Amino acid sequence: MMTTGWRISVAAIVLSLAAPSYADRSAETTLEVLHWWTSASEHAAAELLREAMEEEGYRITDYAIVGGAGEGAVKVLKARVLLDDAPDIAQIIGPSIRNWAELGFFHSLAGSQDNHTLFDNLSSPVFDLVAYEEQPFAVPLAIHRVNTLIFNQTLFDKFGLEPAVDWASWLEQLDLLQQAGIVPLAHSNQPWQNATLFETVLAVTASPDTYHQIMIEQDSSALLGEEMALSLTRFRQLKSYMQPLRNSDWSEATRQVFEGKAGMQLMGDWALGEVLQWQTGGLVGSQIDNQIGCSAFFSQQHLYSVDSLVFFRSGSLTEGAVQRLVQKLGDSDFQYRFAQVKGAIPARQDAALSVQPCLAASARDFEQQTRLPSLVHRTAAIEEVRNVFIHALHRFFNDDTQDIKLTQTRLAAELRALQ
Ligand code: BGC
Repeated sequence: MMTTGWRISVAAIVLSLAAPSYADRSAETTLEVLHWWTSASEHAAAELLREAMEEEGYRITDYAIVGGAGEGAVKVLKARVLLDDAPDIAQIIGPSIRNWAELGFFHSLAGSQDNHTLFDNLSSPVFDLVAYEEQPFAVPLAIHRVNTLIFNQTLFDKFGLEPAVDWASWLEQLDLLQQAGIVPLAHSNQPWQNATLFETVLAVTASPDTYHQIMIEQDSSALLGEEMALSLTRFRQLKSYMQPLRNSDWSEATRQVFEGKAGMQLMGDWALGEVLQWQTGGLVGSQIDNQIGCSAFFSQQHLYSVDSLVFFRSGSLTEGAVQRLVQKLGDSDFQYRFAQVKGAIPARQDAALSVQPCLAASARDFEQQTRLPSLVHRTAAIEEVRNVFIHALHRFFNDDTQDIKLTQTRLAAELRALQ
C-alpha cells in the first residue's frame, strides 16, 4: 500500500521520460524521511538534513513523529513496513539495524568506493552498530552522550557548587537546593525519561561489567544482584528531589533549568543542543553562554547512542542515488554542522568538533573511557528487551509500594521469557 505524496508523482514520471540523465531524474523524486526530531534543536537538525538532500536534487517530505526517544516513531515505522509502505529513509538505531538488514529491508552502503571515507573514519563500536556481516547498512550521523548533567550556572555560582564527584556529594547538593526552596532536579514522568534516568544511575552505581551483564546480556544473576538493587534504591530516592511528576517533553525540563526554576537535569546531551538553539538559534561555531553548565555525570563511563539513518530498498532510491546521499551525509563538514546543532559529536572521527567544552569532553571520553551502550536509546539490545525494561522501571518509579526484590525477580523473569 502506498500513500500519495511521497512516491514519484505522475508529473515526475512524465518528466523523467523526457529527461533521462540521472541528475535530472533525482530532481523529480520525492523522498520521505521518517524520524523523531521535533524539539527546536532537533527540528533545526532535521532541516540541515533536508537541505543537504535537497542539494542533491531531491524533494524531501519530512515525516517527523512526535515523542522523545522515538517512542511513537518506531511504532509507526514498524506498522508502515508491515503495510508495505516503508518510507525511503528512516532513523533507526543499534541492533535493529542488523536485524532488519538481515531480513533484506535496507540498501547495503558498501557499494561505492567513495563512501569509504565515511566508513573508514568511524571508530569500531560505531561501525559495528551500523554493520551486518561487516557491511554498513546505515549512515551514522552523531554520537550522543546520555549521562550528561545539565545545571543552572547562576544557581551553582550562588550556592558555590561544582559538578559533584560522587553520589553522596551529589545528594548534599540536591538537599542544599531543596532547603533553599529550589527544585533540585528537573524531570518529567515519561517512561523513557524515567528509564534514561535509571540507566544513568546504573552507570555510576554498578561496575561496567555488571552494567554490561544487565543491559546487554540480561543476565539473571546480575539482574537479581546487589548493584541492581542499589541502583533501583537510588533511582527511587531521586523522586523526592523532583516537582510532583508531570508527563511532559524532555525539553520542558531543560527549560526549567535554563530559566533557573530548577537546579539540574540528567539527560542526554541533546539538551545542550536545545539550549544552544534557544540562545543562539543554533549558530554553527557558537557556544552556549555561562547561564548553563554541563558535565559528564561523575562516572568514568561514556553512556552513548548513535543517531543513524537507513535507506529502504522498497523506496524510490536507486543504488547509485543511495551512494550519493551517503557521501553527502557522511561528509565531514555536514557531520560537524549536524552534530553541533544536535548537541552531539560527529560520528566521523576526522570531523571538526564543537567548541562546546562538554562536547569536546564527550569526544575525548568516547575514545578514552569505558563505553557503555545505552539501552533506552537503542544501542544495547533489541526493541522488545528495551520495552520490557522501560515498562518495569516506569511501574517501579511510580509505585512506591513496589518491592525492590520483587521488581528484580519480575524483570528477570520477563527478560528470560524473551531469550
Ligand atoms: C535520540 C536523539 C533525540 C533524543 C530525544 C534519542 O533517542 O538519539 O537524537 O534527540 O532521543 O528525542
